[in-house]
Amino acid sequence: MTDSPKRHHLWGRRDFLTAIGWTAIAGSLLAGTAAFGRLLFRRAPVEAPTLFRAGRPADYAPGTVSDRFLKTWRVFIVHEKGSLYAIFGKCTHLGCTPRWYSRESKFKCPCHGSGFDTAGVNFEGPAPRPLERARVWLDDAGDLWVDVGQRYERDRWSQPGAALVLAKERA
Ligand code: FES
Repeated sequence: MTDSPKRHHLWGRRDFLTAIGWTAIAGSLLAGTAAFGRLLFRRAPVEAPTLFRAGRPADYAPGTVSDRFLKTWRVFIVHEKGSLYAIFGKCTHLGCTPRWYSRESKFKCPCHGSGFDTAGVNFEGPAPRPLERARVWLDDAGDLWVDVGQRYERDRWSQPGAALVLAKERA
């Protein structure tokens, strides 16, 4: 016994609908798996390092400003009045990098002429506030560390990380 042409037509349509159903299920399974995979293997954002070892406190003579880390870390290390601190070299006007002029004892911004004293306090030009300081500390071995990712505006300069008071020079 053979199927009638009408029956053939009916089965063909049913098969077609079944195929569509399976395709839809497979599609959503694939999409779900892909989303799960993305969730599993999502990469953490890569952050640039912000810490660096800056040698020993004795590397910085009293009354000096060092720019040895200016190109690499945008930092000046200042040793003044028994304290070591790291000035972040970003002008508070529009962000240019100031230079240190030892003869004039000041930082000068090449862009619009702002001037900052040795402590980083603005005294001329359009800069609206002092330069920021980066966190400094000593490790157990006596090495000096700087973290440019932690910075202090002037109202926080009295906090411990904003400057390192050198024991020998404290009294
Ligand atoms: S960016 Fe320094 S004075 Fe304008």
